[in-house]
Amino acid sequence: MGQLTAFGLLASAATALALVLPHDNITTSPPSPDPISTAYYAAGYLPPPTYDPWYSPPSGWESTVPGTPLRIRQPAYPSINVRGCKDTLQILYRSSDTHGNASWSVVTVFRPNDTYFNSLPPLNTKNFAGRLKGRGVVSYQVPSDSVAPDAAPSNLLQGQEPYGEMRDLLMRGWIVAVPDYEGPRASYCAGAQAGYATLDAIRAVRAVAGTHVGIDPESSRYALWGYSGGGFAAGFAMELMGRYAPDLIGKLVGAAVGGPSPNLTTVAQAMNKKDTAGLVVASLVGVVDQWPEAREYLRSRLKAEGTYNATGFLKIEKMSGVEALMAYKDQDVYDYFVGGKSDIWGSESNGIIQAVVDKDAVMGVHEAPPKEVPVFVYKAAKDEMSAVEETDVLVESYCKGGARVLYHRNHEGGHNDELWAGRLRTMDFLRTVLDGWTGANMTIPDVGKCITEDVKVPLDVTCLLPEWWWGGAPRPAECG
Ligand SMILES: *[C@@H]1O[C@H](CO)[C@@H](O)[C@H](O)[C@H]1NC(C)=O
Ligand SMILES: *[C@@H]1O[C@H](CO)[C@@H](O)[C@H](O)[C@H]1NC(C)=O
Ligand SMILES: *[C@@H]1O[C@H](CO)[C@@H](O)[C@H](O)[C@H]1NC(C)=O
Ligand SMILES: *[C@@H]1O[C@H](CO)[C@@H](O)[C@H](O)[C@H]1NC(C)=O
Ligand SMILES: *[C@@H]1O[C@H](CO)[C@@H](O)[C@H](O)[C@H]1NC(C)=O
Ligand SMILES: *[C@@H]1O[C@H](CO)[C@@H](O)[C@H](O)[C@H]1NC(C)=O
Repeated sequence: MGQLTAFGLLASAATALALVLPHDNITTSPPSPDPISTAYYAAGYLPPPTYDPWYSPPSGWESTVPGTPLRIRQPAYPSINVRGCKDTLQILYRSSDTHGNASWSVVTVFRPNDTYFNSLPPLNTKNFAGRLKGRGVVSYQVPSDSVAPDAAPSNLLQGQEPYGEMRDLLMRGWIVAVPDYEGPRASYCAGAQAGYATLDAIRAVRAVAGTHVGIDPESSRYALWGYSGGGFAAGFAMELMGRYAPDLIGKLVGAAVGGPSPNLTTVAQAMNKKDTAGLVVASLVGVVDQWPEAREYLRSRLKAEGTYNATGFLKIEKMSGVEALMAYKDQDVYDYFVGGKSDIWGSESNGIIQAVVDKDAVMGVHEAPPKEVPVFVYKAAKDEMSAVEETDVLVESYCKGGARVLYHRNHEGGHNDELWAGRLRTMDFLRTVLDGWTGANMTIPDVGKCITEDVKVPLDVTCLLPEWWWGGAPRPAECG
């Protein structure tokens, strides 16, 4: 499985995700009929957000309450490449930006194919096929890691899913809701933005549960899941829920926060000059996106010429997360700045970027998750992007704040390995909280309690790989 680790994994996803991202003609207003949209429709896809008039809220939307559905399209995708999915719908909903001002976003809802679900073999340890027919809804935060609005999950997922998580959720009979939690400007690393958009997506799905999703609005139950960039969004949602969305208490019954990176400052240091340097560029551009003064400052410090100049830096605004990883691979991101690293961090900087990061891109500075909602945090003990000790501190602060957390530190593998290795434990956690399953080896802490477990779960991706990985060949029978 060497191919699947670290950059190999991400490069594989690149072929999946980069295909449908147009590179030009984004900022200019398209002629009508717009040839790009026409080409997308002709190829069997919805056009990307910046070409699609559906991605704009109807007049008067600002005065609706957060979570209000503003537009619905059903079915949404002309075709779907996720096994076990019957159809999709999309909801454009009212939300809030990182300052709490009126904003909007889009959630894509994938509905399971019950005929397929009912034909699955009985539960076994490899496929963990669900037998409980829980009408749970899992809000899955994709690690989109991009500052391009056209790289929103609602657009890219119509190509194919990158890692297979959505299939695994649908195979358990759950409805999967994927919010564009970065919002309309793709503000990657804007923490409050991500949290609000995540919570409002659940409100929006609940609002149309009976009419459009086909589940009982009263008895339906919801859970959150995200890994890495997606874990950041899920974590912020939990930290903001008590204040912003107390109406979801009793409805949102659990959250799985995988591979959290609690402090962007330290993550940026760990990722520079490596295959992950593109994430540093994206996070700097994204985190200041909703702070006009910091945004202006960042741009003013970019070099006008030379190999590493403003044009090259800001090209990231039209790249998917994986394209950015390839474009900036191994670069020293601070070479783009007139004053180097000290333009951004440290005592010589003017502190403006640090202030935004500390306010909006550090986990654990808001509130602890509500005491009612069990949280499963999992993290590779040897995570090379964000030291496990920072997550230890985060979990400790959650627990001090009254949250109930099950915390797994996996002593096998690094950041990208844990993306896969944590999946079955997450499925077990979700089945326990959503379906009341008692067969899983997951201890849900009582209210007011926290549990930390050091585990050794090796990487075995055979049954976790997405369908496209097999290139049309059947999945191994043992995987169901
Ligand atoms: C951009 O739009 C123009 C005018 O519609 C078209 O001729 C051109 O091919 C487009 N460029 C790309 C890269 O799609
Ligand atoms: C957003 O909210 C902030 C603080 O509440 C306010 O100062 C600012 O003007 C608002 N921005 C917009 C674009 O409404
Ligand atoms: C649902 O699953 C059944 C059984 O696998 C299959 O025959 C049918 O085509 C599927 N329907 C859709 C809409 O995918
Ligand atoms: C800026 O960088 C780009 C590469 O990203 C290069 O093609 C261009 O010539 C540079 N511009 C100047 C003025 O040096
Ligand atoms: C984030 O990490 C940096 C570097 O270690 C530190 O200076 C800063 O105080 C941290 N931010 C918060 C809010 O803890
Ligand atoms: C159950 O989980 C505990 C703690 O993670 C672990 O030590 C034990 O081996 C697991 N048991 C089974 C049967 O998987």
